[in-house]
Amino acid sequence: MVKNAQAQPDGTGELTIRPYRPEDRDDIADICLRTGAAGADATGMYSDDTLVADAAALPYVEFAPDLAFVVDDGKRVLGYLVGVADTDEFLAWWEREWKPGFAARHPEPGPPTGRTPPIPEELLIWVGLNPEATRIPEAADYPAQLHINLLPELQGLGFGRKLVDTFRAALAKRGVPALYLGVDAANKGAVAFYVRLGFHELPSSSPEHPIFGISTAP
Ligand SMILES: CC(C)(COP(=O)(O)OP(=O)(O)OC[C@H]1O[C@@H](n2cnc3c(N)ncnc32)[C@H](O)[C@@H]1OP(=O)(O)O)[C@@H](O)C(=O)NCCC(=O)NCCS
Repeated sequence: MVKNAQAQPDGTGELTIRPYRPEDRDDIADICLRTGAAGADATGMYSDDTLVADAAALPYVEFAPDLAFVVDDGKRVLGYLVGVADTDEFLAWWEREWKPGFAARHPEPGPPTGRTPPIPEELLIWVGLNPEATRIPEAADYPAQLHINLLPELQGLGFGRKLVDTFRAALAKRGVPALYLGVDAANKGAVAFYVRLGFHELPSSSPEHPIFGISTAP
């Protein structure tokens, strides 16, 4: 599917938003790592470079590949949005299907790397092993959720907004009323982006754990 086609700034290719395909999985894991430290590169920050994607990207494409969208330059994926329509169902699936493999791959924090990631390794592993702990009180009214990450060369070109619009439209088509997301408090750029797009803070949001929501209606 070709839509939202746009020439790259250097004129070398065409950037296209399209649905996720299974062969995009490695690119998504790579982008997740390279934007995984509050929007900056998390490579080498954790004892295992696969941890961030295992907690923040791959379970989403595994559970809801039909709600994942990517930006493709004809050679590789440079950015993605992953999400689910029903967080309750997703967390139950995580507990049942994703947690055993996660626990085998990341049974406990590894040796210190000497770097300090915004989200400590202990916490990331704990979340992977306790998915229910991420449930928000507003989940009944905001059942869907998303994660979005673009490599630096793709940022600031309007693709973040287009990906969110694409996801909201896909949810609206399914009758899902609203979605939420959590942001790393250190990620000021992402917070500014969500506010610009019309997201509002939910009652359970706090300065340490900002949580934003938005309706799926345009
Ligand atoms: C945050 C992110 C998804 C935004 O996507 P993007 O493609 O760069 O943003 P867009 O170009 O679509 O910008 C949409 C609007 O938000 C505004 N905006 C985007 N980033 C902004 C920033 N850092 N500060 C202020 N405003 C910003 C733009 O000015 C634009 O406004 P306009 O449409 O009215 O002109 C992207 O920069 C990114 O992936 N960053 C690294 C990973 C990350 O932080 N992910 C979020 C984790 S919660």
